[in-house]
Amino acid sequence: MPDSPATQTAEEFRIVKRQLLLNAFARGENAIKNGNLILVCSAQPNEGKTFCAINLALSIASERDLTVLLVDADFAKPEILSTLGLEGGKGLVDVIVDPSLDLADCLIRTNIENLAVLPAGRQHHLTTELLASERMGAMIEEIAQRYRDRVVIFDRRRRWRRPPPPCWRCMSARCCSWWRPRARASRSCAKAWP
Ligand SMILES: Nc1ncnc2c1ncn2[C@@H]1O[C@H](COP(=O)(O)OP(=O)(O)OP(=O)(O)O)[C@@H](O)[C@H]1O
Ligand SMILES: [Mg+2]
Repeated sequence: MPDSPATQTAEEFRIVKRQLLLNAFARGENAIKNGNLILVCSAQPNEGKTFCAINLALSIASERDLTVLLVDADFAKPEILSTLGLEGGKGLVDVIVDPSLDLADCLIRTNIENLAVLPAGRQHHLTTELLASERMGAMIEEIAQRYRDRVVIFDRRRRWRRPPPPCWRCMSARCCSWWRPRARASRSCAKAWP
């Protein structure tokens, strides 16, 4: 939590956060298009994507002047709401399927003032197709335009072979994944794709 005491994990998130924030709000020749959109993903399940997305969001939300939107884009296994103890509601899938729905109406406020969550929404049998659809691309673009002053973090399982569908390529994404194999704890922070 933003005001909780320092732990090693919190410290590690602080270090990652600094670099991501530099990218997010770089100006002039260092400016990065959609640098405020951060995609957390990994090749394998259970590698800590949701853990990283949530902790990164909490860490950034502890910054006094920043607002964070945490998007659950893992349609197959959405876990952000349950992890944060939030009630379910309409979300990204619903907005993609029904263009009359407004994205803003699906945002869930949290008891952390500058953190909002966009849930995955209802289960749909064509989630892979939805994620690769033009409408998904339009949603990412809308999120980028509408919330350009916010840091937007996507928790997303990777189901495609490189490169990802065009709509996801607009992000200057870095993929952060920490994991603890049985024998030893290790950590990595790598570019999601070249
Ligand atoms: N750095 C870490 N330290 C301690 N526990 C961790 C860490 N990273 C992940 N975990 C734990 O490992 C488990 C798997 O993490 P998580 O659910 O975030 O993975 P995931 O990649 O989102 O999985 P899935 O692919 O199923 O969505 C969770 O119980 C999480 O709390
Ligand atoms: Mg997950």
